[in-house]
Amino acid sequence: MELSVKDAAKLFRCPVNKDILELKEDYLISKSGLKYPVVNGIIDLLPEEKRDDNDNSEYDTISGLLYNLWVMNPIIISFAWGIGALTTLFKMKRLLEIPGGWILDVPCGTGIFSTSVYKSKPASKFIAMDYSMGMLKAAQKKARSKNIRNVIFIRADVGNLPFKDNSIDGSFSMAGFHAFPDPNKAALEIGRILKKTAPFTMTVACAEERTISDFMIRKFMIPKGYFKSSFPPHAYRKLLRNNGLRDIHAEMAGAIMVSNAKKLD
Ligand SMILES: C[S@@+](CC[C@H](N)C(=O)[O-])C[C@H]1O[C@@H](n2cnc3c(N)ncnc32)[C@H](O)[C@@H]1O
Repeated sequence: MELSVKDAAKLFRCPVNKDILELKEDYLISKSGLKYPVVNGIIDLLPEEKRDDNDNSEYDTISGLLYNLWVMNPIIISFAWGIGALTTLFKMKRLLEIPGGWILDVPCGTGIFSTSVYKSKPASKFIAMDYSMGMLKAAQKKARSKNIRNVIFIRADVGNLPFKDNSIDGSFSMAGFHAFPDPNKAALEIGRILKKTAPFTMTVACAEERTISDFMIRKFMIPKGYFKSSFPPHAYRKLLRNNGLRDIHAEMAGAIMVSNAKKLD
C-alpha cells in the first residue's frame, strides 16, 4: 500500500487556528487561507513564520550520516548511557504496541531506528514527524531506499500537533522527550490526539541514574543543544500520568527509560 498525503488529509488541523485543512494540488489550505506546502513528498505543517527559523538547527547540522554514525557508535553510546542503541531498540520493540490504523512516530529523526518498525507492520499507516527538515529528508531517503511505502513524512512541532483530537491510533517516541523544548506540552499534545485506549511507547535519557550520563547531559548534550532538558524517571512517569496516559509500565536500561502507556479510557 503506497500512502499519499490524500490518505492522511482528514487527520490534520491547522496548527495556527485549528481549522480543518483541505488538500489542493501541492498544499493543504485552511478555511482562512493559510497554506501548508507539500515539498518533495514532505508536508510542512509548521506555521509559516516558523519555517525558516533556526529553532532546530543543531539537528539540521548533523542530520543524515553524521547523526547515524554518532548514535550507532557502540563505544560512545554505551559509555554515555550505559546501554547500546540496538539493545534499547530491542527493549522498546518488546513494549511497542502497533495497532492497525494511523501511528505517529515523533520524532522520526533520520529513521535509523523507526524504519524497521514501519517495515515490520505493513498493515499500519505511519506518520513520521520531526521538526528538522534535514532529519526528515534523511528518513524519507532511507524509507524509499528500502521500498517502504506505508509512511508519510511531515514537519511539525510536537508542542503544537497539527492533528484533530482523538484521531490517532497509536504513537511512539524514541529519544524525543529530552530533545523537545517543552516536554510537558509534548505529552499534553500526544494525549490530546490519541484515540481512547491507544498505546504510546517512549524511550528517554534520564537524569540522576548514572554519574557518567549526568556528566554527558550537563557538559555536552545540553550545551550543544541536542538535549533541552533531562529529568529523573519518576518525573517522566508523572508527565505521562498528568497528561491522560495510564497503565504506565516503565523499565530502566542504563540511563534510558523505556515505557509504554495507554490513553485514558
Ligand atoms: C535525539 S533525536 C531522536 C531521533 C530518532 N527518534 C532516533 O531515535 O534516532 C531528537 C529529534 O527530536 C527532534 N525534535 C526536537 N524538537 C522537536 C519538536 N519541537 N517537534 C518535533 N521534533 C523535534 C529533532 O529534530 C531530532 O530529530
